[in-house]
Amino acid sequence: MEDNNNINQNNQVPSTPVDATSTPNVAMPNPTPTYDQFAAQVPTTPVATPAANAPKKSGPIIIFGIVALVAIALVATIFIENKKGTDVEKGIINEDTKTLIVFFSHDGENYGKNLNIENKVTLTVGNTEIMAKKIQSFIDADTVDIYEIEPETPYPTDLNELYGYTKIEYNRDTYPKIKNQINNLDEYDVVFIGYPIWHASYPQIIKSFVNDNRDVLKNKVIVPFNTHAGSGSAGTYKMLYSLIGVPEEKGLNGLAINGTEVATSDSNIKKWLEGLGYKTK
Ligand SMILES: Cc1cc2nc3c(=O)[nH]c(=O)nc-3n(C[C@H](O)[C@H](O)[C@H](O)COP(=O)(O)O)c2cc1C
Repeated sequence: MEDNNNINQNNQVPSTPVDATSTPNVAMPNPTPTYDQFAAQVPTTPVATPAANAPKKSGPIIIFGIVALVAIALVATIFIENKKGTDVEKGIINEDTKTLIVFFSHDGENYGKNLNIENKVTLTVGNTEIMAKKIQSFIDADTVDIYEIEPETPYPTDLNELYGYTKIEYNRDTYPKIKNQINNLDEYDVVFIGYPIWHASYPQIIKSFVNDNRDVLKNKVIVPFNTHAGSGSAGTYKMLYSLIGVPEEKGLNGLAINGTEVATSDSNIKKWLEGLGYKTK
């Protein structure tokens, strides 16, 4: 390997002998220094003097800066993710939860006990409407609104007629038009959806409501409820979730009450609401 000690900055070999004091590697006869001379040459504290052209030690600072930035970005992302979604979606229902109770109900002639036409009754207020209004009055929160789905063409009040009319609607899977569209659905966190069981399903007008509002409903917490004359919920809660397109676990437990027992079911309804997380009154 080439020895560069005698090469100056222009890479030229000096023509005159190099000053011995500036080239310590050149062998020169050197008298042995006294102890004092020797001690005077030894620096008391070693000082690291970077060579003039050596890169400044900014590397670690840059790396530290990058790591810090990444950490801040990570924390911010986690924070934003946690803020996404309502408290309700995280299982928290409180007095700030904005709740809407949507229902369809039919007054007029209806089945009484056990779906027996002999037991038919005439309702001035539908069973599901009574249940919906109880839910509204029991929830102790700032915003609990109610919205009744009304058909553009009213259903017959006579039970036989109503039965035939709705059976055709069900068999043909037609979607009756809604008279009173809702346009502020997006303001709510939780949407209760209530209906009577008709022909072992929800009335077709519930499908109309979902079809008209699916995009908004998809982002809500859905709570189904219904009245019936013996069929319970008839498996309609699952059907409702899939009709809307929300996973079942995004909804909350529903409640089915026999129409003939709605008037006497206050404590049942309150217990259910409390189970969902609501404070009741
Ligand atoms: C056309 C029709 C079909 C019905 N089909 C069923 C049924 O399949 N199963 C059931 O348990 N109740 C059935 N019912 C009874 C209602 O679900 C029950 O009376 C309900 O409480 C009525 O609620 P509403 O007054 O809010 O309309 C039917 C009622 C009607 C009018």
